[in-house]
Amino acid sequence: LPIRDGRLKGRINESFSRINASIRFDKRLYREDIEGSIAYAKALFKNKVLDKEELEEIIDGLKNIEKEIEGGTFVFLEEDEDIHMNIERGLYEKIGETAYKLHTGRSRNEQIVLDERLFLIKTTEELKKTLLMLFKSIVRRAKENCETVIPSYTHFRQAQPVSLAHHFLAYHAALQRDMERFEDFLRRLKVMPLGSGAVAGSSIGIDREFLRKELGFEGVSGNSIDAVSTRDFIIEFEFICSAIMGTLSRIAEDLILFSSDEIGYIGIPDELATTSSLMPQKKNPDSLELIRGKTGRVFGNLISIMTVMKGIPYSYNRDLQEDKEGLFDTVDSTLAAIEVMKEVFSGLSVNKKRIKTVIEGSKDYLFATDLSDYLVKKGVFFRKAHRIIGSIVQYAIKEEKSLSQLTIEEYKEFDQNFEKDVYDVFNYTRSVNLHDVPGGTALRRIREEINRIEKQLR
Ligand code: ARG
Repeated sequence: LPIRDGRLKGRINESFSRINASIRFDKRLYREDIEGSIAYAKALFKNKVLDKEELEEIIDGLKNIEKEIEGGTFVFLEEDEDIHMNIERGLYEKIGETAYKLHTGRSRNEQIVLDERLFLIKTTEELKKTLLMLFKSIVRRAKENCETVIPSYTHFRQAQPVSLAHHFLAYHAALQRDMERFEDFLRRLKVMPLGSGAVAGSSIGIDREFLRKELGFEGVSGNSIDAVSTRDFIIEFEFICSAIMGTLSRIAEDLILFSSDEIGYIGIPDELATTSSLMPQKKNPDSLELIRGKTGRVFGNLISIMTVMKGIPYSYNRDLQEDKEGLFDTVDSTLAAIEVMKEVFSGLSVNKKRIKTVIEGSKDYLFATDLSDYLVKKGVFFRKAHRIIGSIVQYAIKEEKSLSQLTIEEYKEFDQNFEKDVYDVFNYTRSVNLHDVPGGTALRRIREEINRIEKQLR
């Protein structure tokens, strides 16, 4: 039965109908909607609203609808507005008037948040799984490149030697926090709203504890007004996706730079690159650029839902329907971005020869901090040592020499504490291993960190 006719005269305005109907996008929630309705029907049976035969009819009918939707034969109608009413109408077409009992004591206001929560439980698990695969390919690359020393960067200027593994593991460290955010988010997500009614709570004493168990939630919502009002679980989810995308975007930027003609530390596989329609020599890192680009959309979706929420009075308002398109877009974009990044790490090559050339071309300036430490060990106060080495670098630049090319006499001109052993400083493995603290780039620390992560991944 159409719900309009009782209260309202005539047909819905055509322009309004186009924004009123959400079926175009909320049909994506059909599985969750049916799952929720089956559980609700069972609760109605417990409440004696349905008898055994009616319950079975309803469950069969709903399962058939699910099959039809999956097979593409179910007819969605815009005049039925949303997924909830489309399925209710479909059920009537299958089993007749018994279908009209299913909505007893239930509101679409609670139904939609139930569907969304069920959808996000599954989606979060899927995202976690995909992240895990990305972690594995990052760690594999790190393991192969413990001893590959690259310049680290601050201000995108060469800083100190680090292991390429250490650089890659920084990506994992950031994304691991998002993994933990998902875990924490799931605790709040698994709160069951059904039984809240339209706003005041169920009027038929529906067994919420039964519904919670049926649907696999960990708790039930404590306030019916809040339950139908809130979309903070969507905001939280979209924030975590935004955090992930923000990190992926920076990783993409790193890898675009690292694979550039000018730097060339890494190569990305052809299957993740495109070429130019005009310039035949081009190999473009579009896979990474699209990850970076999609980040803007995902951030936008977060701002969009936060803005929708900020001014609406308690409790349900139709504005809330605007939560879905951005959410689905964020899900699809984030999943795709993680997957593509995983492919990038699986396929990238490390150009050790090129890295050596760059490092050697850096004229040992990467060792400048180690040189200050050298003087400090000889008893010079750090601030003074810093100044002395600064002057030496200035001198070396003027003389067009690398730091290891300066003679011991030249060094002694700057400070008497320099001795022959100063040349031991110019050794990349030694330099890296000097940073021997938890979290530092010393090889044994990196290996420890890799072991710890591998254990966690298992
Ligand atoms: N399509 C609606 C939404 O997304 C479902 C809930 C509708 N409730 C209502 N009273 N019209 O929010």
